[in-house]
Amino acid sequence: MLRRLFTIAILVVGVSIVGYNFTASASQGKGRNAEGKKLFMQYCASCHGADAKGTGPAAPTLKMAPRNLTKIDKVDGKFPFTRVQETISGEGIIPAHGSSAMPVWGTYLRRNKGENFAKLDLYNLTKYIESIQQ
Ligand code: HEC
Repeated sequence: MLRRLFTIAILVVGVSIVGYNFTASASQGKGRNAEGKKLFMQYCASCHGADAKGTGPAAPTLKMAPRNLTKIDKVDGKFPFTRVQETISGEGIIPAHGSSAMPVWGTYLRRNKGENFAKLDLYNLTKYIESIQQ
């Protein structure tokens, strides 16, 4: 009985620590970029490069050069957030996303992490790209 209570106590403390970290990072702009950067290094740097300029280690093996993501064309003087997010997720109308030139990340993330996390990841990735515009 005592042991069971102890286990429950540990669980409660564990869950609140995880919950605290999550809300803390979600409410800070910086935390969001840190998360986006982590995702970028994990999923995108191989082609686009750690500096996002399009010269990752896998770039020479591709038929089509990955874009320099620090120089996304502005639309009406603004970073085209929705278009970029849709480009990453594969919902966009950009042909490369229907082809094998760039993996369709939306499908991948949804399959591996579930709908809500996929949305959060896509948002964080796009936020990160917005933050590195030159
Ligand atoms: C397998 C290599 C590869 C990987 C990995 C990859 N990309 Fe790409 N990406 C490309 C290529 C190639 C293009 C250019 C397609 C074109 O020009 O039509 C591209 C284009 C893009 C564009 C369009 C840029 C513009 O100017 O409209 C965005 C945004 C983008 N990638 C983001 C990402 C993000 C974010 C990730 C990680 C989640 C990622 N890419 C992972 C190969 C890759």
